Amino acid sequence: MNTNFSVVPQLLKKDPVLAKRIAASFFAGKKSMLVDHFFHPATTNELGLIYFRLTPLCNLRCVMCGQRGDKGVLKGSFAAAESKKIVPLEDYMRLVDQIKHKKPVVYLWGGEPFLYPDLFPLVDYMMEAGLTVSVNTNGTFLEKYAKEIVERKWHALFVSLDGFEATNDRIRGEGSYRRVIAGFEAINREKALQGSHYPYMGVVTTVNNLNYRDLYALAEATRDFKLAWHIYNLGTYTDDAIVEEQRAYMKRELDTDITCLPGYATGYNEGIDGKELFDILSRIHAMDIDHPIITVPALEPDKIDIYYGKLDAPVRTQCSVPWSQANVDYNGDVHFCADYNDYPLGNIRETPFFEIYNGERAKKFRLALKRSKDGIFPGCVRCYQNMLCGKRVSGF
Ligand SMILES: C[S@@+](CC[C@H](N)C(=O)[O-])C[C@H]1O[C@@H](n2cnc3c(N)ncnc32)[C@H](O)[C@@H]1O
Ligand code: SF4
Ligand code: SF4
Repeated sequence: MNTNFSVVPQLLKKDPVLAKRIAASFFAGKKSMLVDHFFHPATTNELGLIYFRLTPLCNLRCVMCGQRGDKGVLKGSFAAAESKKIVPLEDYMRLVDQIKHKKPVVYLWGGEPFLYPDLFPLVDYMMEAGLTVSVNTNGTFLEKYAKEIVERKWHALFVSLDGFEATNDRIRGEGSYRRVIAGFEAINREKALQGSHYPYMGVVTTVNNLNYRDLYALAEATRDFKLAWHIYNLGTYTDDAIVEEQRAYMKRELDTDITCLPGYATGYNEGIDGKELFDILSRIHAMDIDHPIITVPALEPDKIDIYYGKLDAPVRTQCSVPWSQANVDYNGDVHFCADYNDYPLGNIRETPFFEIYNGERAKKFRLALKRSKDGIFPGCVRCYQNMLCGKRVSGF
């Protein structure tokens, strides 16, 4: 199975300026591995992509979510208490001023980003600063805000859907499928009314043992959504043994106590028939459909069983994230790892971004990662960021 990157030539034809910006972000990642990682691995000159986890709050409780799901570590009264720490707009504006010369692609997520109270002014400010802004959302607020989103020409929406109606709602909550579809319709209506091709809109589907047999039905349904892409994310998983190995490793190497990784020991990877899933994904890739299909990570047919069954076997190595990416958390803490954000590098409310990004803690982390076996930590083996940017293991 190959990842279908036809999204790039399609975008080049439709929107060369945006395509160039995305390509620049991608090349920043590659260059950082050839230059910074190789010659001076403790520091970097590149920043291609910056994530903002804007809020710990969410209106859904998707079962597999490492934050809010069955095993999620950011729920209930804890999330409510944490939400009091969210970064105010003016601090984010100061951060944008600090980073804009690097022109990173911005990826806003959460929790649910639409629950960040100043989302619209924040995106306005980022876009005025020349940044490319994408928003990852559960889609349930799109209908309400379609007019504003299209008027403001947001660049891209990554909308989560995890199956056709009944399956999606079992995972993401009753009625969520219909709300997302109503959101797509509202955005498409506004785009037609306003004569705009922004925002480009795509679906992200997280594969698990509750939905994999339903993926073709979802793919059929997406024909009407006017999508720019559909990403199948094979999922971020771990198990108790890897959690314990990571716990000991991070304590020893970086004096860090881990709390996030256990949220991904969900069991939703168990019992997936790799051959059947490969056949389903192959049929989807072969569909006569307008939008590109992207599988992350792309795997050889016989390796899907290993992806889900043998969670300690790497399929991607040499994590490049700390040399070109960062995640700013809802409280202002900066981390390299968006999902497993256990090692804070510093806080943007107290310290200028690049002093954090190339500060002592960042240097320690990069050096520890570089000297680790295969350029990853034990807990990194199914990390989504590494599935996107890591080096494909031969045969996988
Ligand atoms: C945590 S959500 C935050 C943004 C927004 N609330 C949403 O659902 O799109 C970001 C993405 O992570 C995905 N996700 C949740 N749990 C996951 C898991 N265990 N493995 C991989 N992706 C997961 C979601 O489906 C979503 O596409
Ligand atoms: S909508 Fe997003 S953040 Fe909320 S529970 Fe679902 S995956 Fe997690
Ligand atoms: S692979 Fe590991 S180091 Fe890299 S982003 Fe993921 S969790 Fe962090």
